Amino acid sequence: MFAENRLHPSDLIWPLFVTEGSNVEEPIASLPGVSRWSVDGIVGCARQARDAGIPCLALFPNTQPERRSDDGREALNPDNLMCRAIRAIKDSVPGIGILTDVALDPYTAHGQDGLVDDDGYILNDETIEILVGQSLNQAAAGADIIAPSDMMDGRVGIIRGALESHGHINVQIMAYAAKYASAFYGPFRDAVGSRGLLKGDKKGYQMDPANAEEALREVALDIAEGADSVMVKPGMPYLDIIRAVKDRFEIPVFAYQVSGEYAMIEAAAATGAGDRDALVMESLLAFKRAGCSGILTYHALHAARLMH
Ligand code: PBG
Repeated sequence: MFAENRLHPSDLIWPLFVTEGSNVEEPIASLPGVSRWSVDGIVGCARQARDAGIPCLALFPNTQPERRSDDGREALNPDNLMCRAIRAIKDSVPGIGILTDVALDPYTAHGQDGLVDDDGYILNDETIEILVGQSLNQAAAGADIIAPSDMMDGRVGIIRGALESHGHINVQIMAYAAKYASAFYGPFRDAVGSRGLLKGDKKGYQMDPANAEEALREVALDIAEGADSVMVKPGMPYLDIIRAVKDRFEIPVFAYQVSGEYAMIEAAAATGAGDRDALVMESLLAFKRAGCSGILTYHALHAARLMH
């Protein structure tokens, strides 16, 4: 009766990894308990999510190596893995929302989120042109929420304008507004196959973990450009940022409890350092207490079932 915060399955967004083929399930070694699924398997995951009361999925493709290029143009292919997965889910599991990541790292031969110059430095404005095409491609396939995770400056406003002028007036934008250059993304990069390709780091465009004021500036810009909601990422090491954003702005705030955080909890559970279910529920509740409207978590299905 006196609890100030509660968890509900409707707080959760479940990230899923898609791979080519049919009837394929590929476990991801650094993310125990999480697999890449072919499109048919993703539809099965969507059905389980809907039945558990999860309102939204986040999709990420493991693009075949021969379809990766320096300019990531596979992101614009209307029949790419991502678009096929979106359409299959929308056909078979109507009613579940789909959030799609906008960034080029699953499609580039160098694993960076955008185009790079000869020195490996990101080309902000040239990248945005492709991100707009990627957003329109995902919206046309049926995405409900476009989530730019690339951290280019100015992309939210330009994507919003393009969505409007192409008739996608009801597609939302959830901006990865404060995304840190984090060591917690390793297992994700294994999952989408970009880890081995990546040279250098993403510190040229992702945020410095030392900075909090900068996060507020990034959030203010994304809201001014038309974001419907904002995200802080990673999650648990950045609860202070979530609280600061929530106190400053009247907008839904989401946290991405990222792959490395998931792996830490699983490692702790595997060694007996803590009880899995309790670790999962406590960490998710902390996001609600910090001010989140919802959480992207690889534990979503497990947690939603625990809540029933
Ligand atoms: C790609 C992207 C990343 C994640 C989500 N979108 C990785 C990165 O920026 O390198 C990480 C998610 C996770 O670790 O679970 N732009």
